[in-house]
Amino acid sequence: MIKKGNGFITGIEFMDQQHDFFVTAMNRLLEAMKNGEGKEEIRKTMRFVELHILKYFPREEEFMRENSYHDIEFHIIQHKKFRADFDEIKDIYFSKGYSVSLPLTLQRKMQDWLANHISKTDSILGDYVNSVKKTGGGTAG
Ligand SMILES: [Fe+2]
Repeated sequence: MIKKGNGFITGIEFMDQQHDFFVTAMNRLLEAMKNGEGKEEIRKTMRFVELHILKYFPREEEFMRENSYHDIEFHIIQHKKFRADFDEIKDIYFSKGYSVSLPLTLQRKMQDWLANHISKTDSILGDYVNSVKKTGGGTAG
């Protein structure tokens, strides 16, 4: 079980809050799988991930534009890739129905996203914006 806030605090409030929700949803699915309740929980997890992609990704992308972030294209490509991977899982669920391997696949995908995007790409974005804020606004002398 991954504890919230470990190693992926960006210091950007809306990002940290949403990442918290992400870890919670991921941990809940893992717990449900252990208790043989993966079938019920995966529906909730999929709803969460769907909203995360549809509402949170655009907000983060807007935030990058607002801050003239230099690495925005690479970042957006990763978002698109995650969306495509998630759509694939969703398609399997809706075309073939539930199977025991499905929550595991989704949970692993989320774990991978946490390790390789939230903890790295998002963290780098947070560091960048924080450093700009610190050094920027230099008119205050
Ligand atoms: Fe991101």
